[in-house]
Amino acid sequence: MTTALVTGASSGIGAELARLHGSKKGDLVLVARREEALNALKSELEGAYGIKATVITADLAQPDAAANIFAATEAAGIQVDILINNAGFGGHGKFHERDLAKDRAMMQVNMRSLVDLTHLYLQGMVSRNSGKILHVASIAAFLPGPLQAVYYATKAFVVSFSQAIAQELSDTNVTSTVLCPGAVATGFVAAGDLEGNSMWDNAASPESVAKCGYEAMMKGELVAFNEASLAFMLNWVVPFMPRKTVLKMSQRTMEKSK
Ligand SMILES: NC(=O)c1ccc[n+]([C@@H]2O[C@H](COP(=O)([O-])OP(=O)(O)OC[C@H]3O[C@@H](n4cnc5c(N)ncnc54)[C@H](OP(=O)(O)O)[C@@H]3O)[C@@H](O)[C@H]2O)c1
Repeated sequence: MTTALVTGASSGIGAELARLHGSKKGDLVLVARREEALNALKSELEGAYGIKATVITADLAQPDAAANIFAATEAAGIQVDILINNAGFGGHGKFHERDLAKDRAMMQVNMRSLVDLTHLYLQGMVSRNSGKILHVASIAAFLPGPLQAVYYATKAFVVSFSQAIAQELSDTNVTSTVLCPGAVATGFVAAGDLEGNSMWDNAASPESVAKCGYEAMMKGELVAFNEASLAFMLNWVVPFMPRKTVLKMSQRTMEKSK
């Protein structure tokens, strides 16, 4: 069975993606900063499914994180067949009023470490002519996000990057899929200072979003949305609306109403 490396496996969508892969008897490499949560998930999944889960604690905001993770899996003789780049976070507020260090860390986690991990693990996948990559982006990728300017831009990067490499890999058996969730009930809201935003009032469950992404990845789909109506709006309505209307509408969705 295949081994999947999941970043951001300590909570939310990442933990559910790990549970799904474990339930299919796949081994796991669980990556995040919170070691206790990773170890709890490791025990749960090894106990439930008889699989092997390896914990690697890493802060993906550090520039050398991806190289250290790769070195750790190499040293342990683990072949990563599936790479799930899920770790990420947002942050609320006007860009010029935000702490630039937080936005730099966000860019490092959401983009740079994702690119580095992909580069490191993709080499082996291509040489074996086998492998799957799932990137967790967001519906935020499809329009600019006033009050979350950097976060939305990082997710636009991920959607572009994933599709471009998918095309480069089209003559191989390696696939790159990007998942674009709408609002999901996870630790994301607290981590990004987004409490009080009504967008999360009817948020999807992380289980349902993980299932959507995992199935799309297994089929090698290019882009996956868990909310069909939002996908329609973003692909077929928003691109034809006046730019300033889109920006005002987008800002309203990020305003805190409570
Ligand atoms: N929830 C939503 O509404 C929503 C919507 C669209 C897209 N997404 C995307 O979904 C992905 C997963 O988020 P989630 O909703 O499941 O939120 P979450 O519960 O907050 O999970 C985020 C995960 O990322 C990890 N992470 C954050 N910073 C990290 C760092 N510096 N180093 C290593 N790991 C780090 C966290 O682990 P540690 O804290 O243990 O390090 C955690 O496991 C993110 O990419 C997010 O942008 C979420």
